[in-house]
Amino acid sequence: MGTNMLLPTVFCILLGSIAAIPQEDFRSNLEWSDYSTNLDEPAYRLRDVVYPTDVNLDLDVYLNHLNFSGLVQIDVQVRENNLRQIVLHQKVVSITGVNVVGPNGPVPLQFPRPYTTDDYYEILLINLDQPINIGNYSIAIRYNGQINANPLDRGFYRGYYYLNNELRVYATTQFQPYHARKAFPCFDEPQFKSRYTISITRDTSLSPSYSNMAIRSAQDVSTSRIRENFYTTPIISAYLVAFHVSDFVSTEYTSTDAKPFSIISRQGATNQHQYAAEIGLKITNELDDYFGIQYHEMGQGALMKNDHIALPDFPSGAMENWGMVNYREAYLLYDENNTNLNNKIFIATIMAHELGHKWFGNLVTCFWWSNLWLNESFASFFEYFGAHWADPALELDDQFVVDYVHSALNSDASQFATPMNHTDVVDNDSITSHFSVTSYAKGASVLKMMEHFVGWRTFRNALRYYLRNNEYDIGFPVDMYTAFKQAVAEDFTFQRDFPNVDVGAVFDSWVQNPGSPVINVARNNNTGVITVNQQRYVLSGAVAPTTWHIPLTWTQHGSLNFNSTRPSTVLSDEIGTINAASGDHFVIFNIAQSGLYRVNYDTNNWQLLASYLKSNNRQNIHKLNRAQIVNDILYFVRSNSINRTLAFDVLDFLRDETDYYVWNGALTQIDWILRRLEHLPTAHAAFSEYILELMNTVINHLGYNEHSTDSTSTILNRMQIMNYACNLGHSGCISDSLDKWRQHRANVSNLVPVNLRRYVYCVGLREGNETDYNYLYSVYNSSENTADMVVILRALACTKHQPSLEHYLQQSMYNDKVRIHDRTNAFSFALQGNPENLPIVLNFLYNNFAAIRETYGGVARLNICLNAIAAFLTDYQTITQFQTWVYSNQLELVGSVGVGNNVVAAALNNLTWGNGAAVEIVNFLNSRSGSTTILASSILILAAMLLQMFR
Ligand SMILES: *[C@@H]1O[C@H](CO)[C@@H](O)[C@H](O)[C@H]1NC(C)=O
Ligand SMILES: *[C@@H]1O[C@H](CO)[C@@H](O)[C@H](O)[C@H]1NC(C)=O
Ligand SMILES: *[C@@H]1O[C@H](CO)[C@@H](O)[C@H](O)[C@H]1NC(C)=O
Ligand SMILES: *[C@@H]1O[C@H](CO)[C@@H](O)[C@H](O)[C@H]1NC(C)=O
Ligand SMILES: *[C@@H]1O[C@H](CO)[C@@H](O)[C@H](O)[C@H]1NC(C)=O
Repeated sequence: MGTNMLLPTVFCILLGSIAAIPQEDFRSNLEWSDYSTNLDEPAYRLRDVVYPTDVNLDLDVYLNHLNFSGLVQIDVQVRENNLRQIVLHQKVVSITGVNVVGPNGPVPLQFPRPYTTDDYYEILLINLDQPINIGNYSIAIRYNGQINANPLDRGFYRGYYYLNNELRVYATTQFQPYHARKAFPCFDEPQFKSRYTISITRDTSLSPSYSNMAIRSAQDVSTSRIRENFYTTPIISAYLVAFHVSDFVSTEYTSTDAKPFSIISRQGATNQHQYAAEIGLKITNELDDYFGIQYHEMGQGALMKNDHIALPDFPSGAMENWGMVNYREAYLLYDENNTNLNNKIFIATIMAHELGHKWFGNLVTCFWWSNLWLNESFASFFEYFGAHWADPALELDDQFVVDYVHSALNSDASQFATPMNHTDVVDNDSITSHFSVTSYAKGASVLKMMEHFVGWRTFRNALRYYLRNNEYDIGFPVDMYTAFKQAVAEDFTFQRDFPNVDVGAVFDSWVQNPGSPVINVARNNNTGVITVNQQRYVLSGAVAPTTWHIPLTWTQHGSLNFNSTRPSTVLSDEIGTINAASGDHFVIFNIAQSGLYRVNYDTNNWQLLASYLKSNNRQNIHKLNRAQIVNDILYFVRSNSINRTLAFDVLDFLRDETDYYVWNGALTQIDWILRRLEHLPTAHAAFSEYILELMNTVINHLGYNEHSTDSTSTILNRMQIMNYACNLGHSGCISDSLDKWRQHRANVSNLVPVNLRRYVYCVGLREGNETDYNYLYSVYNSSENTADMVVILRALACTKHQPSLEHYLQQSMYNDKVRIHDRTNAFSFALQGNPENLPIVLNFLYNNFAAIRETYGGVARLNICLNAIAAFLTDYQTITQFQTWVYSNQLELVGSVGVGNNVVAAALNNLTWGNGAAVEIVNFLNSRSGSTTILASSILILAAMLLQMFR
């Protein structure tokens, strides 16, 4: 799936999401969700003794009645003699008839129970009267299905929109990873790949239906019903099947019949199709060239079409169904007046992600979800680099590092991190949770490291070998390693530089090991010998010793060179040595953060780096290394693996720093620390003031207004910096935003520039009154651009007018313009809006949790809300109150009590961390000349007292 898990929900928690950073909405989170039935059941897999080859699916769809009937006919190969039962998946409403035909005619089934269904395992068991032998058989199943009313239930589901205030409904599918069985009985695992021939009958009042392939023929069934027959698909897994019944409209973008390309959406939004078409076409062409396999020619006999459909309701970010990609509307539709640059970038990257899947996932499919990275890490890689080739001005090559490498390292810092090859993936729950940062961002970061290691051309050749050797089939990790070995064997330079290196073993160490390493660098400045030692990096907790094959890059003061990301050596043991020049020259490892590892240095090296970074030469160090240094250091502060005084001394160069990437590496973590001081008001105030002081230069450098010459990173930087500065109370940011808001309120045609809206709207509401809220709420309700609606939804929660915030929270449950996938976001936005919001949001939760669970879409959604609260419970009294609420509502909170308890534990941990770090932080702040001295000892006493009271 496309990102959005990019990003889904677990992700946000791991990231410790904060109010200010636009990148918090990571693209891949959107894919994952929390729907499952067969908890903790290992006996869940189908045996591969019956293999489907051809599937005919005929559906009779009644959109207004939310149901359909179906006939599925599956040609199978039976691969074992003496088979007594045929088992496949189903989770339809009812099965009304089953028959099996074999090489010798009809195969008798048992009487009186020809078949049984098991809704727990979601299977259909066909009971054969006599055992059957190896051969070709055909199974026909008649059944009734439902169109799910809740998009979060996936399968074949209903959505809606308004056209001139009139309600319109549509139905579409989301099958990955195990929901095809809800639309038709099937062999619902990725390893079973078949050709599908699909027909759909619908009301004639609707538009032609969509499926993976183009319509081959249509026939009228009655005056009001028409049946459309689609071309046969190439060989695909069941999760890649898709169809769509609606009154949607399509815009065709190519003149050549050989390369059709369409953007499809609800009526009323066709003026937002253009950008996706332009960028999507370019990306398709780039990937065609790169892989040497043409997208449109992958249809095995029929032309592949290239449709992209925008859906008002979509549980994930996007889904790579072959020939028919589904997107959440905000990730496909672009309107120059309402879509900000961040959302525009999402459109490019998510399209690139889904298009990348056409080769990795669709053409060659992971054998099982345990190694989902064989699909998702490649899609996530091309998400950035495919889009980068299509539009280099978006700077996605550099953004990859601060988005994906940093988020991979973040999630791998947990002692509970799971490996890319995750053998515990055995049932619906564990499948779902492996749609994770590990499979997406980490996998992509490992690929990028491999590309730096073997070189651009050899990397591409390896991917081409993998695709050609396994096309229309499934892939295993070993197939990938084989392809890499094949490619490096032909690479003279690689053979010369790394004669004894097994490229498969290097790759595999990253696939098998959980977590990511830190390398500790100690330099003997007399001899010049550098000792590097690797260990798994965790924020806390004990983990087993782990060794990777780490391709190392480094450079040295005196001959700084960031031009080559080609490793000079591979560190395969726990400890290694490298010879460098002696003397007082600092070294920097991991050039442009091309490798997936953190770097910690000896004190002397850190001190030399600190003073160099504070000098005018700072920019001689690559911006991505400056970004890495701040990000690593802040993690070392968190894990207590560096002297904090030293750490803040290194970070102090931020006061001169104006680069987007460096600030991106810093902000989330600085905010993480700030939040943990909230219960210690003096320390909190001093630290906020310090952050604002550090930000002064970058704020002045960016200015409050956009310039036509601004680069992508300048615009993104203004977005991230001003969001944060306004939230921290920077007076210039606030007064300029308020000016822009008042000008807009005085005359609505003075639009707030689209990239500034998030914080200008927020300040407008925060400093405004009820009429400001009501005004923006009405803009929300009449908007035709979903990305802008999400920006507004966030800003509405900045109101400090209590009845308005209460109205907002009610609307999060009952306004159907707030899509079900946005409801938990609305809840989080309410927490983030103002510190004063917390008691109101908590009251809303305490009084309405059952209704929240119902209207937000189920227990898993309520749990997302509970998890979001942890970061905001920053005083003991509120934590106690929350804990009491969980305790006294245990029965009603079924499925959420454990989450509630974890929230309490997490909140307490946050306070404890703050207590432990506050004194050192305050001492550092005191040590700077010109600052008012705060008595650190008084903070310590306060922290100790609070802790005591609580126990
Ligand atoms: C954006 O605004 C301009 C100027 O008002 C207008 O001409 C254009 O049609 C708008 N674009 C869209 C997609 O609505
Ligand atoms: C995945 O890891 C497990 C445990 O280390 C191993 O037994 C298995 O062979 C690996 N699978 C693949 C496909 O690499
Ligand atoms: C790095 O590359 C740039 C641009 O190609 C070149 O100007 C510079 O001299 C190179 N630096 C080193 C140290 O090789
Ligand atoms: C090595 O570093 C120490 C500080 O740790 C410094 O005092 C000494 O002068 C350095 N020696 C050389 C040869 O640079
Ligand atoms: C950390 O470094 C500072 C300044 O170099 C020093 O004064 C302090 O003692 C160090 N703290 C620890 C715990 O080593």
